[in-house]
Amino acid sequence: MSERVISPAVIKRLPRYYRYLGELIENEVVRISSKELSIKMKVTASQIRQDLNNFGGFGQQGYGYNVQYLYDEIGKILGLDNQQNMIIIGAGNLGQALANYDFSRVGFKVIGIFDANPRLEGLAVRGIEIQMVDELEEFVKSHSVDVATLTVPKKNARPIASKLEELGIRAIWNFAPTDLKVSDDVCVKNVHLDESLMTLSYNLRHRGNEKYSYNSYMND
Ligand code: NAI
Repeated sequence: MSERVISPAVIKRLPRYYRYLGELIENEVVRISSKELSIKMKVTASQIRQDLNNFGGFGQQGYGYNVQYLYDEIGKILGLDNQQNMIIIGAGNLGQALANYDFSRVGFKVIGIFDANPRLEGLAVRGIEIQMVDELEEFVKSHSVDVATLTVPKKNARPIASKLEELGIRAIWNFAPTDLKVSDDVCVKNVHLDESLMTLSYNLRHRGNEKYSYNSYMND
């Protein structure tokens, strides 16, 4: 498959295709037309065809899509076909909640959890002992770390992000409510649950009003 620039809007929709296709596989659906998929996903069939044409189509006119094949191919495009190792910095409420979640379904494995609070040292979350943040450097040098999740207070996020960059980490999943200052070599994905909640609030406030309607099925 040749490398070409894919629009961010398409990339943003891929995880949703992946999730729906995963559900279809669970329900033992083998083949699906773009029309059926469009009804299920509440987007137009032409949108689906256009999106998937970015990657070579995958469908056969009149036969629809092979669900497993499409799922696997989208997984490859998203880079989910290889396990990616994740560390979590900040083992407070959110860090522990994330560490407790099984991300292996989308190819991520938590291999290390770090905090600055000595009272948390050695406490195990899903079988992984929390280590002190001063052990981070040694850990990163001796393990293959693909992604670092940042769940520290806002004021500490930037220095840690710089340290992670210095250690060669190239992807940060940032939950701290601040813009990190890292070079373009580092991919940063900021997550803001409160923005999602504000959109929900908007939907609630304006429900039933066509003029302000927002497609609540689309993910943030
Ligand atoms: P928390 O206070 O429970 O946990 C923060 C942890 O970070 C503590 O265990 C603390 O010891 C540790 N920590 C502080 N400085 C550190 C350092 N330099 N190195 C390593 N560990 C360090 O806070 P909570 O509720 O877990 O929130 C964590 C962060 O996530 C905050 O920045 C918060 O604003 C943010 N947050 C973001 C959300 C989002 O949707 N993006 C939702 C909820 C929280």
